[in-house]
Amino acid sequence: MALKEATMYFFAVIFVTLSFTSAIGRTEHVAGSTYVAAVYEHRIILEPDPHVPLSRPAALKHMQKNLDIYKEQAELAAQQGAQILVFPEDGLQGFIFNRTTISGYLETIPDPQQESWNPCTEPERYNNTEVLQNLSCIARHNKLYVVANMADRQPCPMKSSLLFICPPDGHWQFNTNVVFRSDGQLVARYHKQNLFFEAAFDTPPQPEIITFDTPFAGRFGLLICFDILFHEPTVTLVEKGVRQLIFPTAWMNSLPLLDSVQFHRALSLGANVTLLAANIRYDHMNMTGSGIYTPFSATYHHAHRGDPEEGRLLVARVPVLDPLWGGQSVATEEGVVTAESTTSTSSQGNCCDSSHPELLSSSSPTFVSPMMFDPFTFVLLNETEGNLNVCNGTFCCHLQYRQLPQGSSKELYALGAFAGLHTVDGRYALQVCAVVRCAGLEASSCGQVVEEAETKMDFLLEGKFGTKYVYPSVLASHQVVEEPEHLEKTAGGRVTMKHSNMTGGLVTACLYGRMYHLDNE
Ligand SMILES: *[C@@H]1O[C@H](CO)[C@@H](O)[C@H](O)[C@H]1NC(C)=O
Ligand SMILES: *[C@@H]1O[C@H](CO)[C@@H](O)[C@H](O)[C@H]1NC(C)=O
Ligand SMILES: *[C@@H]1O[C@H](CO)[C@@H](O)[C@H](O)[C@H]1NC(C)=O
Ligand SMILES: *[C@@H]1O[C@H](CO)[C@@H](O)[C@H](O)[C@H]1NC(C)=O
Ligand SMILES: *[C@@H]1O[C@H](CO)[C@@H](O)[C@H](O)[C@H]1NC(C)=O
Ligand SMILES: *[C@@H]1O[C@H](CO)[C@@H](O)[C@H](O)[C@H]1NC(C)=O
Ligand SMILES: *[C@@H]1O[C@H](CO)[C@@H](O)[C@H](O)[C@H]1NC(C)=O
Ligand SMILES: *[C@@H]1O[C@H](CO)[C@@H](O)[C@H](O)[C@H]1NC(C)=O
Repeated sequence: MALKEATMYFFAVIFVTLSFTSAIGRTEHVAGSTYVAAVYEHRIILEPDPHVPLSRPAALKHMQKNLDIYKEQAELAAQQGAQILVFPEDGLQGFIFNRTTISGYLETIPDPQQESWNPCTEPERYNNTEVLQNLSCIARHNKLYVVANMADRQPCPMKSSLLFICPPDGHWQFNTNVVFRSDGQLVARYHKQNLFFEAAFDTPPQPEIITFDTPFAGRFGLLICFDILFHEPTVTLVEKGVRQLIFPTAWMNSLPLLDSVQFHRALSLGANVTLLAANIRYDHMNMTGSGIYTPFSATYHHAHRGDPEEGRLLVARVPVLDPLWGGQSVATEEGVVTAESTTSTSSQGNCCDSSHPELLSSSSPTFVSPMMFDPFTFVLLNETEGNLNVCNGTFCCHLQYRQLPQGSSKELYALGAFAGLHTVDGRYALQVCAVVRCAGLEASSCGQVVEEAETKMDFLLEGKFGTKYVYPSVLASHQVVEEPEHLEKTAGGRVTMKHSNMTGGLVTACLYGRMYHLDNE
């Protein structure tokens, strides 16, 4: 699957200025209407032993416990005016199954592109569809769109597949999103493309690009968890002009670069899309962090160690995004500002006003330390302020900074660069610039997991990327996501993120570049 990024038109020749003041709305950017979205972070009820295969009745009894919670939450969401509600990946059955032990949980989900079916009003059409019936009735009774994730069993060969391939045991098993209209009709079915150690499931024979249309907000696209890191289906959806993405996930937080709220917010900003992200809450596997992210706002929840382990419903009114903006941007002249700065006063007189230094070679001395299993090249920041470069090969990152230490505790920071193929727990090519708080006061602790920081920092972080897919984020202490004050992408791959006036200590500031075109090299 050698995928070209050449067709991605909308970042091509744009010089864009975006500016954020707070988490709430720059809705004046959007001429159109709004809608109310909801995501539910579900504290999953698990079977004590997923290694023992359950009968269908036992599996239904188990799933009913989770469905009962879905039903309650849908009522609460509807009371708050929600028009669409998203539940997380694996939220009904859990995880760590294999192909056999999940069998009691499987239903055969008909293809909504082939037939119209309302499981709530026509339950007798198919046997063994209790989950579909329950979900459909939840949508219908609460008059809202419902997106849920469940396990699908399909006979071989699949009707929709041109390829005549089949798993050895003669059927497919898919990790699947289903979407029900507000009257209960099944309107979309999406099979996860990028599995993450899921022995129970198959990868579909070809990537599925699945969307559905709503009367209140137009088109939405579907993805699941690990999919968010890959070209298929995520970037293909966005390239097709789909700007509202629905994202059930069972996301295991991994700092310093891939905490749930950090990366999900970054994807939404970098791709200029809305992302409705519903995560599982399960402390044992570090799963928490759900949100409603738009290009202009972030409404999210991230639990902390010691918090009661419980679900969380998030509801937010958000703008409908115009699917045609890419086409408009391509028509602009080079150097045109397509999104005007907001009323926020800029940090004039602060550390970081000069621009575009040459990104040529590293400040010395550099050292290499692993961060999330990748060998980052780092340079240390000193305690006050400065100007640093660091390169990994020809990929260079630049930082101007001024530290604003709080309290008396000493904290060490480093600027890191990595260009290469990440190969642990998935294979994906990266170019990353990141400022991180080191876990201790030794250089060797830079890149390790850190959740807290006190030091605030005004900074300008910049890199020259070999990709237009760069996802920016600022993560403050205790998984607080800050909106970068200023983001700029220029032709030639230079991306600049400027930030000041932090509300909390800096944990990670990151420009996460994805080199999709090198994933298979
Ligand atoms: C699934 O797990 C069960 C219980 O651990 C085991 O007996 C069975 O052989 C496994 N099946 C497959 C297909 O791996
Ligand atoms: C459902 O199962 C029952 C009992 O096995 C069978 O009589 C019926 O024909 C089945 N219905 C469908 C639609 O397959
Ligand atoms: C929900 O599923 C249960 C079995 O788990 C079934 O008995 C019940 O009929 C279903 N409810 C609806 C409304 O489909
Ligand atoms: C969860 O996070 C903690 C702290 O970051 C870490 O020590 C632990 O290994 C993580 N657990 C899993 C299952 O990843
Ligand atoms: C993002 O989308 C908004 C609203 O649809 C548009 O006005 C803006 O120009 C886009 N921003 C970027 C960086 O392309
Ligand atoms: C940062 O804070 C200072 C002092 O409170 C304020 O004058 C300035 O406008 C703020 N800058 C931004 C970009 O919000
Ligand atoms: C930090 O670095 C800057 C420039 O790189 C330098 O001017 C300043 O004196 C340094 N501060 C300390 C405490 O070393
Ligand atoms: C990036 O740094 C690592 C570690 O020093 C090194 O092995 C690798 O070759 C460098 N990559 C490039 C493109 O130079």
